[in-house]
Amino acid sequence: MYRPAVLCLVAVFAVVTAATVKRHPVTVVVSFDGFRPDYIRPDVTPHMAQFRDASAAPPYMRSAFPTKTFVNHFTMATGLNPETHGVLDNTMFDSHNETMHYTYEQFHYDDSVVPIWIQNENNGEGRHSGVMMWPGSEFPYQGKTPTYIEVYNNSIHWNSRIDTIMSWIENENQPANLVFAYFEEPDRTGHKKGVGSQEIQNQILRVDGTVKYILEQLKYKNLEEKINLIILSDHGMETVTYDRMIFLDDYVSNMTYKSVITGPNAFILPNTGKFDEVYTNLSSGANTSKTFYVFKKKELPDRWHMKNNPRLNGIIYLLSKPSHAFWYSFYQNILDKTTKEMFRTGTHGYDNDDPLMHALFMVSGPMFKKNFTAQPFDNVDLYPLISHLLTLDETANYARPVNGTIAGVEQLLLSPKSSSAGTSSSSSPHVLAGILATFIDALKKYQ
Ligand SMILES: *[C@@H]1O[C@H](CO)[C@@H](O)[C@H](O)[C@H]1NC(C)=O
Ligand SMILES: *[C@@H]1O[C@H](CO)[C@@H](O)[C@H](O)[C@H]1NC(C)=O
Ligand SMILES: *[C@@H]1O[C@H](CO)[C@@H](O)[C@H](O)[C@H]1NC(C)=O
Ligand SMILES: *[C@@H]1O[C@H](CO)[C@@H](O)[C@H](O)[C@H]1NC(C)=O
Ligand SMILES: *[C@@H]1O[C@H](CO)[C@@H](O)[C@H](O)[C@H]1NC(C)=O
Ligand SMILES: *[C@@H]1O[C@H](CO)[C@@H](O)[C@H](O)[C@H]1NC(C)=O
Ligand SMILES: *[C@@H]1O[C@H](CO)[C@@H](O)[C@H](O)[C@H]1NC(C)=O
Ligand SMILES: [Zn+2]
Repeated sequence: MYRPAVLCLVAVFAVVTAATVKRHPVTVVVSFDGFRPDYIRPDVTPHMAQFRDASAAPPYMRSAFPTKTFVNHFTMATGLNPETHGVLDNTMFDSHNETMHYTYEQFHYDDSVVPIWIQNENNGEGRHSGVMMWPGSEFPYQGKTPTYIEVYNNSIHWNSRIDTIMSWIENENQPANLVFAYFEEPDRTGHKKGVGSQEIQNQILRVDGTVKYILEQLKYKNLEEKINLIILSDHGMETVTYDRMIFLDDYVSNMTYKSVITGPNAFILPNTGKFDEVYTNLSSGANTSKTFYVFKKKELPDRWHMKNNPRLNGIIYLLSKPSHAFWYSFYQNILDKTTKEMFRTGTHGYDNDDPLMHALFMVSGPMFKKNFTAQPFDNVDLYPLISHLLTLDETANYARPVNGTIAGVEQLLLSPKSSSAGTSSSSSPHVLAGILATFIDALKKYQ
């Protein structure tokens, strides 16, 4: 029922509003991989502590299960549960039962799954997205990539990544109204050295300095009243020592299955005819050691929203208990450089109810409450929140129903979604300006 006259009107409307979107609140989402909410301390991370005090922030945000990087970044980007978007771990089996890690196929279990940076541009009216290294962003979805993209490269200096983001927002012809940015620490160092190491502490300070730089740049560029800035992480981190390692060879012959092990999580694909024996041996090992859980696909808890995906067909899924992990090559590489007594590694992937797996979330900007302690919510709810900020059309033919809901995140907003149809930035209080003023004061104090 498309009528050319209507299409024509839409086209005219798009031209007229292209300039006004520039004045529309811009949303910037910054992720620091594996940043645990309790890493923020006024004496250690003054800038983040200051930002949180002035923000709308829950004590933590609940991650999706498994509490892994690709799973959670894709859940946040799509608003879908892992079983629906199909990314079930950083490394997993592909459709030929071969190990798959960061491939197009991994992020395209279902071609109708589209990240919000694509949906933003589908909404037109001069909307442009910029994505800096966010996991899954370099792959096209339904043949589309965002206007601005920079693929993951950890040699690129963090401040220079921020300079690039600012240039996207400030672009004269195609200003970005949505930015997703990813920073790989303190996760990388946490894995190698464990929580509480001097090395991870240095990365936490580096994150704090980066938040300071972001806020300085926003102030300098006069963007502080236009940006809704979300600072978050994907999951937490826990230290594992050598005596907490689980060796599957103790329970089942390694000739009888293929596996993908990612620390606390393991996908076990028994050889033909071996399923029952492998399952029995692993279950008996779990019963006697009490260090891990064993699941057939159908036994996985519903609350993980993971089981209803064909990618788990024929798989026995293992999850270790907190502070335990399954031995694999990554750990062998660490052990090669140290002793069993000195062995300390950080990991995540545990139950998303485990407090140490919880993620960081804080937001400041014209549409948000200030100095507000919110109730925890699920990171799948981020999509409806951002969709609301960007005034995306949830009834458009290219839109699809998501699993996240606005109910959990509405509490953060100055005016709830139900009462804010046709949100405009003209009446926005200068919240971020206030934050920056206190922030500058804090800077003086800490110099
Ligand atoms: C936030 O609110 C608390 C009381 O709820 C107050 O003590 C504190 O000073 C406020 N902080 C800022 C930055 O406004
Ligand atoms: C992968 O393994 C599952 C379970 O054993 C099996 O159903 C499927 O056919 C295998 N796929 C391929 C391509 O071998
Ligand atoms: C990553 O960035 C560095 C520094 O800019 C550059 O020299 C290098 O070529 C980049 N690597 C890739 C794979 O693009
Ligand atoms: C299961 O455990 C039994 C007893 O230790 C062992 O004989 C058998 O080989 C194991 N089966 C597999 C598949 O590893
Ligand atoms: C498989 O198990 C055997 C016997 O337990 C062990 O010697 C061997 O190192 C294992 N191989 C691998 C690849 O783990
Ligand atoms: C493990 O324990 C469960 C619960 O007690 C029991 O149902 C199951 O039979 C045990 N499995 C094995 C292989 O011993
Ligand atoms: C998640 O959303 C998809 C539609 O995109 C739907 O098919 C699925 O049933 C939803 N899952 C839950 C647990 O609501
Ligand atoms: Zn991560």
